[in-house]
Amino acid sequence: MTIAFPFCEKMDDISIEKGRRLFASECRFVKGVVAMDGLPKPDRVEICFAGRSNVGKSTLINSLTNRKALARSSNTPGRTQEINYFDLADSLYLVDLPGYGYANAPINVVAKWQKLLKKYLSGRQNLRRVFVLVDARHGIKTVDNEIMALLDTAAVTFQLILTKSDKIKEKDAEKIFEQVRNRLSKHVAAYPEIIITSSERGIGIPIMRSVIANIL
Ligand code: GTP
Ligand code: MG
Repeated sequence: MTIAFPFCEKMDDISIEKGRRLFASECRFVKGVVAMDGLPKPDRVEICFAGRSNVGKSTLINSLTNRKALARSSNTPGRTQEINYFDLADSLYLVDLPGYGYANAPINVVAKWQKLLKKYLSGRQNLRRVFVLVDARHGIKTVDNEIMALLDTAAVTFQLILTKSDKIKEKDAEKIFEQVRNRLSKHVAAYPEIIITSSERGIGIPIMRSVIANIL
């Protein structure tokens, strides 16, 4: 029996090299956006990193681009409060989103960015893929499901990324993977492969680079 939503664990050498080269190019911060009319012109492919607060979105962008603090990360959920645009190789935008769900910020501020986030995720024409990051220890939560449902409705392809795999206990892994696969199977916009990452250990980073290079 083949598993639905297998892990993407290997890539061919050509794709890996393509990804390595793309991410060896210059990456620069473009702007932080707080309202839809502040979004840059949709003149190139865009991919974004979504997920609950503290799941590791900004850290993953830093790992991919091999920079320590391109995207600001922190221990405090709610670090990223704007839609942050990064230009990679003058050919695509990497977008770091504020987290959804719990955040250590005032309620009215959080409500404002949640609204913007939803508008952005459902209405950005050049958004080619959303990486939905989920903590490998916790699996898919209700708020993740809501965002995935929104992406289903908007017909925006999303790919599930399990983060912080260095922290998962082996005895818990199978159960969590099963929960994740079960939940994903309910979403029509889910890309059929999952990627496991650890920014801490560099796991899944070359694969993610090549997946992004192949989207271009
Ligand atoms: P918000 O901007 O608040 O939505 O959070 P975020 O999703 O951008 O998370 P961020 O990258 O700021 O990381 C949150 C915390 O998790 C930081 O303390 C990181 O060092 C830690 N972290 C991120 N990735 C990993 C990982 O792969 N392994 C471990 N062990 N810790 C990680
Ligand atoms: Mg962040």
